[in-house]
Amino acid sequence: MTGASSSSLKNLAPNSKLDPRDASGWCASLYNQTGSFVYSPEFTSPVLSLLAAKPGERIVDFGCGSGEVTLEVEKIVKQGDGGLVVGVDLSKSMIAKARENGLEHVFVADIQDPAEMDRLGPEACGRFDAVFTNASLHWCKQNPAGVLESAKQVLRPGGRIVGEMGGFMNCIGYSLGVRSALHYALRKRGHDAERVDPWYFPSMEDYVKLLVSASFEPTHLSLTPRITPLSTGLFAWLNLFARPFFLQDLPDDQAEEVMQEVVEMCRRDCQDASGKWAMVYMRLRFSAIYKVMGFTCGRDILCTT
Ligand SMILES: C[S@@+](CC[C@H](N)C(=O)[O-])C[C@H]1O[C@@H](n2cnc3c(N)ncnc32)[C@H](O)[C@@H]1O
Repeated sequence: MTGASSSSLKNLAPNSKLDPRDASGWCASLYNQTGSFVYSPEFTSPVLSLLAAKPGERIVDFGCGSGEVTLEVEKIVKQGDGGLVVGVDLSKSMIAKARENGLEHVFVADIQDPAEMDRLGPEACGRFDAVFTNASLHWCKQNPAGVLESAKQVLRPGGRIVGEMGGFMNCIGYSLGVRSALHYALRKRGHDAERVDPWYFPSMEDYVKLLVSASFEPTHLSLTPRITPLSTGLFAWLNLFARPFFLQDLPDDQAEEVMQEVVEMCRRDCQDASGKWAMVYMRLRFSAIYKVMGFTCGRDILCTT
């Protein structure tokens, strides 16, 4: 085990000041402490290249989190007249941090519910060139089609949606996935794991179907394995990404027991000889144009990879 890894809730970051999780289950300071790899330049450059933001464009970031990637997009669009970036997220904690980080136009809203796009104001309706999203749509299992309807609320005809999310077989070891381990540990204790599983990891085929049925014309789809080092260890990763969702019904001591069991189940595949943890993430990247009545305008962003 490395010094950075921990396998108990008590030992997790004992000296750091963390905000409480908000009603959505997220906590920006915990995310920044354990999940900063998500918005690292190394991991976001493929989806940012696919977005190919241009000076002067108007772009909404769906599930902007604490805003680090959103700010990268803003730097580009603000180089041109009228350039605007808007961040939307379900978590009040994330939106507060995004504002603190310097994003001016940020809103708390559920991207699965098109009606909530009204919170962006009437002038937002149908005015944006692109919807961008990184690492957020796999949290929208409840209504993935609703996300595309929300995108249509804000996009101009011919605008694009470009994103990256977890796809089919995400979060695997080499033989056992952490998701399967969580399901096993919960089922064993008599819990309905499917009900509390927050993840939607579609295959390329399934996501194409969803895009097409929502009047989007796909221009790029890829599913790419990525080895993702977990510098703070698997237990801390579970505490950030699984504790408030999969383990929402369990008190701390039982949640800790499940997380420890999952760590043990995954150790053989996901921890190397020096004690470092990693997982294979499958990244589903896509871009698609919003077609209105069979007519596509502004189709200038095509797959580059
Ligand atoms: C892993 S973080 C990614 C954040 C950011 N895009 C980044 O790259 O750092 C996932 C984000 O999705 C947001 N999210 C999850 N479900 C959502 C929903 N239904 N509506 C809006 N945001 C949501 C979470 O609050 C969280 O901030």
